[in-house]
Amino acid sequence: MKLAIDPEKCQRDGICVAECPVRVLELKPEDTVPTATPEADELCIRCGHCVAVCPTGALTHENLSPLDCPPIRKELALGPEQVEHFLRSRRSIRVYKEAPIDRNTLLKVIDVARFAPSGHNSQPVRWLVIQESKEVLRLAGMVIDWMRYVQKENPAMAQTLHMERAISAWEAGMDPICRNAPHIIVAYGDKANMAAQTACVIALTYLELAATAFGLGTCWAGYFNAAATFWPPLQGALALPGNHASYGAMMVGYPKFAYHRLPARKETDISWR
Ligand SMILES: Cc1cc2nc3c(=O)[nH]c(=O)nc-3n(C[C@H](O)[C@H](O)[C@H](O)COP(=O)(O)O)c2cc1C
Repeated sequence: MKLAIDPEKCQRDGICVAECPVRVLELKPEDTVPTATPEADELCIRCGHCVAVCPTGALTHENLSPLDCPPIRKELALGPEQVEHFLRSRRSIRVYKEAPIDRNTLLKVIDVARFAPSGHNSQPVRWLVIQESKEVLRLAGMVIDWMRYVQKENPAMAQTLHMERAISAWEAGMDPICRNAPHIIVAYGDKANMAAQTACVIALTYLELAATAFGLGTCWAGYFNAAATFWPPLQGALALPGNHASYGAMMVGYPKFAYHRLPARKETDISWR
């Protein structure tokens, strides 16, 4: 692992050494600046914390220089009240305008989700955007086919998941699966990567929150993702790379209606030990 530390800027404060999550930096008394330990090449997870935490911008890590890591702008920080209001005012949107979202806006929202945490900083999330609303509807029809199959093969499960209602809504001309959203965003990853599923869910959560700031509405497409997990025809249509699985899907579009209140939720259930 290549580490370049500017001795003029380094204050020998040991902050990078203390913050390195895998302890591959050390500051020996005889050295003027911290150095990488022999295991650094193998263990470094390239999280960039050493660069980001250095108060003087003294440290450059391989291809990650302070110039690649923009400064934190304190004036943009949110207070607790704003954060609570922002999080509580996000809603699952199920009625969308027909208007599509332009690709650039979709790109920007997905780009924010890129900064979600992932196990070992492995950043395993990959994205599939179903842009054409006609295709979204065609895939929703496949989810309905799966429901019809489940109804036949496992009526108890179909009942628990209210599949009959969804099928009859579909037959009445509604779309209870993707709610006529113009687009679906799927987060997927390599089945061999143990961090992938959780990383996809966290990244979609980032995406859902970021979307609200762009004036977009989203809703988790749980039925869609279940069918993407279990129904070969839908898997065929999604055509994810070999050994990859869909770990979450999100409807996205412009909300038709605005919400005016924050709905109540269950009280928090906490045990203190
Ligand atoms: C994993 C997951 C799957 C979901 N699947 C669906 C779905 O298939 N269809 C739907 O209309 N809503 C779906 N939802 C939305 C929930 O019903 C919604 O989050 C819940 O009612 C709370 O409403 P809120 O998101 O507006 O706070 C899903 C939510 C999650 C977290």
